[in-house]
Amino acid sequence: MEIVKLRDDIYYVGAVDWNVRSFHGYTTNRGATYNAYLIIDEKITLVDTVKAPFSEELLNRISEIIDPAKIDYLVSNHVEMDHSGAIPAVMEVAKNATIITSAQSGLKGLQAHYGKDYKYQAVQAGETLSLGKRSLTFVATPMLHWPDNMVTYCKEEKILFSNDAFGQHYASSKHFDDEVDMAIVMQEMEKYYANILMPYGRQASQAIDIVKSLDIDMIASSHGVIFRKYVKEVIDKYSYFCNGENEKRALVVYDSMWKSTEKMAFSIVEGFKRAGVECLLFDLKENHISDIATQVLKAEYLVVGTSVLNANILPTVGAFLTYMKGLAPKGKKGFAFGSYGWGPQSLSTLQKELEAINVEIIKDAIKINYVPTKEQLREIEDEIAAIEL
Ligand code: FEO
Repeated sequence: MEIVKLRDDIYYVGAVDWNVRSFHGYTTNRGATYNAYLIIDEKITLVDTVKAPFSEELLNRISEIIDPAKIDYLVSNHVEMDHSGAIPAVMEVAKNATIITSAQSGLKGLQAHYGKDYKYQAVQAGETLSLGKRSLTFVATPMLHWPDNMVTYCKEEKILFSNDAFGQHYASSKHFDDEVDMAIVMQEMEKYYANILMPYGRQASQAIDIVKSLDIDMIASSHGVIFRKYVKEVIDKYSYFCNGENEKRALVVYDSMWKSTEKMAFSIVEGFKRAGVECLLFDLKENHISDIATQVLKAEYLVVGTSVLNANILPTVGAFLTYMKGLAPKGKKGFAFGSYGWGPQSLSTLQKELEAINVEIIKDAIKINYVPTKEQLREIEDEIAAIEL
């Protein structure tokens, strides 16, 4: 097994999940990693663990470096099971280890998952733990991505163990940013932020302010590659993700039974083009909602269309709107559109659903009975092109 070193006596000991393609509903087309780190000091410390099925890989990696029974501290930055799942396996071997977790939420969460029999030490925000030559300071980052989250900063090494923050679902045999294609990593970081952290932009912004105040040479996240070359770039990128500002771009998201709604969608795209606004189109039958969410993050306009089915919107459109409600995108403008047979009421319902996810309605729902004529399609295009965007 390759020993992956971040610094002298600091190692990557995580696991690569090559084949995972769904991470609680978010498509992970490039797989994932669960990163854990081992610090060899007077106190031997493991920072986070891995998903339970990868416990053996974690213990094997640790065993290449030291006997896992010697672990003194297990820092749990986050209770979610992709990072805490191997705690029972580690504690089975490291019988004298103390689990370090955030006061209240972390302690409560770990005890709910793994019981109260382990030795726990709940730490407050800003508290520092000495390991010997090095120290770890715990910085609270609530809601990135659960209430318990914290990040761990080692000032002597200028390393931030950032857990979910700065994560990317990206599996590779390489572990550092200067060894892989950063364009792909940045895309995956944006997808991760959009699908996991978009609802918590305010908290992310506060956390980034704290991160910026630290002297950091390396960001060791718990997913994807470790940043040692592009630290400033990724911090700037996160600031940009959570700044609440949108780009002049429109998304047309729809599903269509017999192509009438689709024809309308194409006309709307033409209208945006004529208005000078970049437009992306997503058929919900062909695109996963987690990929569309990545585009929603920074797009100013969100336009959603459906055919009417059984006096309702199409289930694919309902699923997209439910997902968006959870992600709570900010500052969007848009409208609804679609075709209907004998009752257009569901298109008004769609408009209300858009309002419910805080989309500012810039025009009433466009409703076409059965099949749009060429003239109607031209009118739709003209109408969109004429909107003050
Ligand atoms: Fe990677 Fe919120 O767990």
